Amino acid sequence: MAANMARRRSASASGFVWLVSCLMVSSVCGDYPHLGQIFRGRYGEQMQKMQDLKGSVLWRGSVSLAASSVATSPQPGSPSPRVYLVTSYGADPTGNTDSIDALTSAIADAVRAPGDGVLMEGITNLGGARISLEGGDYLISRPLRFPAAGVGNIMIHGGTLRASDDFPIDGYLIDLSAPSSSKSSSSYNFEYVTFRDLMLDSNYRGGGILVPNSLRTSIDNCYIARFTSNGILVQGGHETYIRNSFLGQHITTGADPGERNFSGTAINLMGNDNAVTDVVIFSAAVGIMVSGQANVITGVHCYNKATGFGGTGIYLKLPGKTQTRILNCYMDFTGIVAEDPVQLDISNCFFLGDAHIALKSINGVANGVNIRNNMFSGSGKGTDIVQLDQSNGPFKEIDQVVVDANNVDGMTMRSTVARGSAKGNGTSWMVDFSSALLFPDLINHVQYSLSTSGGSFPNHSLRNVSRNCVVVESDVAVAASVFVMVEQGKKLPS
Ligand SMILES: *[C@@H]1O[C@H](CO)[C@@H](O)[C@H](O)[C@H]1NC(C)=O
Ligand SMILES: *[C@@H]1O[C@H](CO)[C@@H](O)[C@H](O)[C@H]1NC(C)=O
Ligand SMILES: *[C@@H]1O[C@H](CO)[C@@H](O)[C@H](O)[C@H]1NC(C)=O
Ligand SMILES: *[C@@H]1O[C@H](CO)[C@@H](O)[C@H](O)[C@H]1NC(C)=O
Repeated sequence: MAANMARRRSASASGFVWLVSCLMVSSVCGDYPHLGQIFRGRYGEQMQKMQDLKGSVLWRGSVSLAASSVATSPQPGSPSPRVYLVTSYGADPTGNTDSIDALTSAIADAVRAPGDGVLMEGITNLGGARISLEGGDYLISRPLRFPAAGVGNIMIHGGTLRASDDFPIDGYLIDLSAPSSSKSSSSYNFEYVTFRDLMLDSNYRGGGILVPNSLRTSIDNCYIARFTSNGILVQGGHETYIRNSFLGQHITTGADPGERNFSGTAINLMGNDNAVTDVVIFSAAVGIMVSGQANVITGVHCYNKATGFGGTGIYLKLPGKTQTRILNCYMDFTGIVAEDPVQLDISNCFFLGDAHIALKSINGVANGVNIRNNMFSGSGKGTDIVQLDQSNGPFKEIDQVVVDANNVDGMTMRSTVARGSAKGNGTSWMVDFSSALLFPDLINHVQYSLSTSGGSFPNHSLRNVSRNCVVVESDVAVAASVFVMVEQGKKLPS
């Protein structure tokens, strides 16, 4: 119904624009031959007429809007709308008494309704049924679960769920596990279940939302706090979209005296093809843990726990098959760790407070990594913007790694592409790139030019590129400058 109204409203709004633009066109066109007349006094009059017309159209527009909002109650004979109001099942919106049974009954009714339309085979389409929390605050003593798997196109929205003091430790406030009694005939538990406009308070007894083996789950405008395990845990399935949400173990805005003790993970993606978009993570040991492939993280602001206290903003724990994009994120005193990155893109992000990127060697592989167009701002302590964690052994297979075009304020630039020059009078010029390049001893491409001011044309050549130092020599002594550009990449056979 709401969707219909919105459609109607925009239809009448665009109708109005169309009408006014016709009026304007016809009055302008009509007056064109009489421009002189307009300037001799008719212009104001015309404008007034147009204003009057616009006014009346606007006024009529608002009347028809009002009429359409009156007409939203269900028409007699039409199928009843599937909105399940939890208070009609006895849920207590004041949060004083346990509402788990009432909420479960509301869901059970919604799930029992006949399905229509199409979803994946084996998933009953509930046609957009809504469980409305009616703006209430509900205490629950057990995870909220669906009584049967194999349903979809249903939403739970608009209120607060709080774990009671006897909530099972390590449970999730909302749990999409398939009940063992009702196995879905689909290979997925659920499809297109939406959680919207919810505050979830785990009361330090477990997690927020558990999404195992489901398709196209949407978590939108949720505030998930006081979890001990995960704010959101996605296991298997596909396409859980987490949008416009706020997650934090403790409700704080940073510089919290307890920050050192923050634990838990705000979002844990143990599945493929998910998206985290426009999310703020304000407290947790790990902001986003990723161990599934082809996930995208965009517009996320992490200030969950500073790196200095042992926190990580985004941890990519899928060595050898990363396939992750991190775009337009704001890493605020907490950085990114990627284990053996293979296909990773980090771009257009802002790193503040010495936040940096650590590439962590597990089996020594880094392949297909783009770290470009990011901004780094730090305290002047000389923290490298990209670091290699080789505590498990060195990176040995390095190919297609591009760290370039980042900018730095108060930190140390590290790149795989660098430029430098040397000036001297003699037969040898050396440019040392070891303080600028990311990998030790890995130059595989050099371009240089030797510029002399006098009349001589010496013979010269590139002599040595080991240890990230480029050496150019000439056959005769000459006063010259040497300009060098280097790239790091796959080690060339020597
Ligand atoms: C952090 O945890 C330690 C050890 O559990 C405890 O001693 C300390 O008081 C905690 N700090 C804060 C600020 O909560
Ligand atoms: C370079 O060195 C030579 C010999 O040491 C000297 O004669 C010449 O003037 C120098 N050229 C410049 C430009 O300094
Ligand atoms: C440069 O090398 C060529 C070939 O070895 C030699 O003929 C020529 O004299 C050299 N030029 C100078 C300026 O020494
Ligand atoms: C290149 O320089 C390194 C020291 O920086 C040296 O050990 C090596 O022998 C040099 N290689 C050649 C071909 O001169």
